Amino acid sequence: MPPQKPTAIFITGTDTGVGKTHVSVSLVKALVKHGVRVGVMKPIASGSDRTPEGLRNSDALALAKASNVDVPYATLNPYCFEPPISPHIAAEEADIAVDLSTIVAEFGKIKADFVVVEGAGGWYAPICKTRTMADLPKALNIPVVLVVGVRLGCLNHARLAMEAIKASGQELAGWVANAVDPTLERAAQNMASLERILGSAPLAAFPFEPPPSVTSMAHPDVHQGEHLARRLSLIS
Ligand SMILES: Nc1ncnc2c1ncn2[C@@H]1O[C@H](COP(=O)(O)OP(=O)(O)OP(=O)(O)O)[C@@H](O)[C@H]1O
Ligand SMILES: [Mg+2]
Repeated sequence: MPPQKPTAIFITGTDTGVGKTHVSVSLVKALVKHGVRVGVMKPIASGSDRTPEGLRNSDALALAKASNVDVPYATLNPYCFEPPISPHIAAEEADIAVDLSTIVAEFGKIKADFVVVEGAGGWYAPICKTRTMADLPKALNIPVVLVVGVRLGCLNHARLAMEAIKASGQELAGWVANAVDPTLERAAQNMASLERILGSAPLAAFPFEPPPSVTSMAHPDVHQGEHLARRLSLIS
């Protein structure tokens, strides 16, 4: 029997700012392009703007904009904190207890063929005194994709993250290379080293996309998202 397709994926990264949103948005756009009803979730976010509707996080909004399944903001992003600091500190300051069962319940409300869930920070980013991001994919029971921000220092970070994910027992679908630093020297040797250290080729390799302006985010390449979706057996 062929392996069952996963119904959701958890996107983690080697660090904050390595391209989890960039890769997630590309994957969502690719799935939408191929007619998949794709929902999104950024369960915990810090660094948000006050709006008349309440706090809004840019990652959650970018994911929602790419998605073709409407969900209420409280489902998309149940924990949204204003300051751009570690979620566990932001939660403590707001006197809010991050509860995994709330996230699982909101996740269950998303009626879609597939759901892309973006973590915050890296694998062991604390979400409260006793739990980390690593507990999220476990609670949701979904496989993990590791985004490696390819820059100096990533060989160490990638190995640490990969070993931690494997040790958690959570299913690892694979890793994605994301070229965040166009000035990185010996880029090809770094990629070869990543493959050797991580023990597999990347599911997809996202090139550096120069942002259209200094204030805007780079537009992710949908072709790489399609490649990733194919490698995850989500489209043919
Ligand atoms: N392949 C790329 N080419 C050019 N810029 C990129 C690329 N990937 C990411 N970036 C830029 O790097 C920055 C960080 O990317 P992104 O927001 O996707 O990271 P993240 O891991 O989701 O961060 P966070 O931990 O805050 O959620 C953004 O400005 C984004 O536009
Ligand atoms: Mg992000």
